[in-house]
Amino acid sequence: MTTPTLPADFCGNPDEAFTIPAEFYTRQDVFEVEKERVFANSWICVSHCSELAEPNSFITREVIGESIAIVRGNDQVLRAFYNVCPHRGHQLLSGSGKSKNVITCPYHAWTFKLNGQLAFARNCIEVVNFQNDKFELSPLKVEEYGGFVFINMNPNAESVESQLPGLAAQLRTACPNVEDLRLGARFVTSVNANWKAVVDNYMECYHCAPAHPGFSDSVRMDTYGHTLHGNWTLQFGHAKSSEKGYSFNDATSNRAFSGFWAWPCSMFNVPPGDDFMTALYEFPVSADVTLQYYDVYFLNTELTDAQKKLIDWYRDVFSQEDLRLVESVQKGLKSRGYRGQGRIMVDRQRSGISEHGIAHFHQLVGKVHSAS
Ligand code: FES
Ligand SMILES: [Fe+2]
Repeated sequence: MTTPTLPADFCGNPDEAFTIPAEFYTRQDVFEVEKERVFANSWICVSHCSELAEPNSFITREVIGESIAIVRGNDQVLRAFYNVCPHRGHQLLSGSGKSKNVITCPYHAWTFKLNGQLAFARNCIEVVNFQNDKFELSPLKVEEYGGFVFINMNPNAESVESQLPGLAAQLRTACPNVEDLRLGARFVTSVNANWKAVVDNYMECYHCAPAHPGFSDSVRMDTYGHTLHGNWTLQFGHAKSSEKGYSFNDATSNRAFSGFWAWPCSMFNVPPGDDFMTALYEFPVSADVTLQYYDVYFLNTELTDAQKKLIDWYRDVFSQEDLRLVESVQKGLKSRGYRGQGRIMVDRQRSGISEHGIAHFHQLVGKVHSAS
């Protein structure tokens, strides 16, 4: 079977568009194409900058089967490396935290400076023609942008701004202190769904009323809108205080919901309330598994009871509602009873429940899979 392709102008007319065919969500060969063309070739958001603010701080992330280590050197420079030892390939770092001044491989104890240079290989004096400088860690591109950290496996990639022009400025308008936020909670979930099904779900609020009673009760749908900006989009809605969703009082400065999607699969939410954000990082594992990091950020580190309650709501209610939806869709896409494509419900007014965000995303995915 040859790998399927899509016309270069797929979803070119959003008003009459259908979704990407189901096999693009389920076939491993399609996923392999996306690994190369999308994930090894795009800026991928991996964390908020606060996790890597201190010298020697590091995180690791698993992206398309690659373990990546991002490390702040004792010289303050942020670097990203493939998390693999040049000797025989063992993984170097795991988890996150503060590194010593050298990284020691757990296998044969080669040590590396935080700039990636080999510091010492045991017994190397006795080894003929051992060249220290041939064994530095393999770097990849890393950039801090808009308060977040992005990596790119393409060594020739241009800046994050060139991939997502204007996003950082717009994000800062929605959340002026985005860079001062700190991680309040993180839910890591292995989601049984293709990464595109997770993005699709984010790209429309057609499902908000039936599937998110709390969210719908606190965000006004009559003025909700979704604007498209090339590789990123913005969903914006005015908020009303609700017992079931977001609650706030007269002193609350932010009374709106802003939800940013950034190519390929990062989402940044500035919900109603003060000094608070959530971010969703999707790390594709295979055609039908996606590792999701769901982060909640606040300005303060000692959380109030109200903030703890909000975290509980995100963990037990809001995020679960979406996880159940996308996993059900992934199963349905494989059904012999599913007709293979769904009608994208774009309305003339581009209203709050219009699915034009999906048509836009599928247009971008279409270009990835175009034969020409
Ligand atoms: S594999 Fe790392 S020191 Fe041997
Ligand atoms: Fe949702």
